[in-house]
Amino acid sequence: MRRKMVAGNWKMNGTRTSVAELIGSLRVEELPSDVDVVVLPSSIHLAQVLSDLQGGTIAVGAQDCSTEPGFGAFTGEESATQLRDLGCAWVLVGHSERRSLFAESDQVVCRKFSSAQVNGLKPILCVGETLEERQLGKTLDAVSQQLNSVLDVVGVDAFESAVVAYEPVWAIGSGLTATPGQAQEVHAAIRAVVAQRNPRIAGGLRILYGGSVKSENAVELFAQADVDGGLIGGASLKANEFGAICRAA
Ligand code: G3H
Repeated sequence: MRRKMVAGNWKMNGTRTSVAELIGSLRVEELPSDVDVVVLPSSIHLAQVLSDLQGGTIAVGAQDCSTEPGFGAFTGEESATQLRDLGCAWVLVGHSERRSLFAESDQVVCRKFSSAQVNGLKPILCVGETLEERQLGKTLDAVSQQLNSVLDVVGVDAFESAVVAYEPVWAIGSGLTATPGQAQEVHAAIRAVVAQRNPRIAGGLRILYGGSVKSENAVELFAQADVDGGLIGGASLKANEFGAICRAA
């Protein structure tokens, strides 16, 4: 039985004041004890959030990390080593905004995954098709390609502690959500790709759905056999809405 997980990706949002308010509201939300709840603030707010959530049940992660694993002359970068040292447990790699707006290739995503994993930071690998790929009937090809490009290099054992997030690009921030059936089809395909390499690891792998998840659609999405929770963007910025999504998991 896989433990459900809900992660809130705050993206480039918030000030010290609004982040403190959001954390304050989250701390009084009733969060289910059988769900892993994670928040992913901007890197400049990580220390504040880690300190404010210390001793609680909400884990903290980063939205990205460097391809470079340790230290060095890489201005503006933050390594997995540094993020782990700060207290982060998780890191997103390959979010579609990184892939499309910052030209991150599968190779770059793979190096970030590897840097995170070898330094004790659990990667949440994001995959997903564009609208064009879906319309051309290439959804499963696109997602498998993104997944296999990482699996080929890091090996399936590295997925023992990793999480995969399926986020159709057309559903992110658009208000359009994949139907529960569409999500289940892709989640099952992702699990099958991993199962070809190791059925046990595939069976334990958590696959989150992301893309315009709200409290109203979360119950049905999370009820699908291969949907193990969600990666939440916009709706994670409101504590009561995020709390309701966590309770739906
Ligand atoms: O990382 C989160 C996703 O990009 C989903 O964002 O819930 O605002 O559509 P959204």
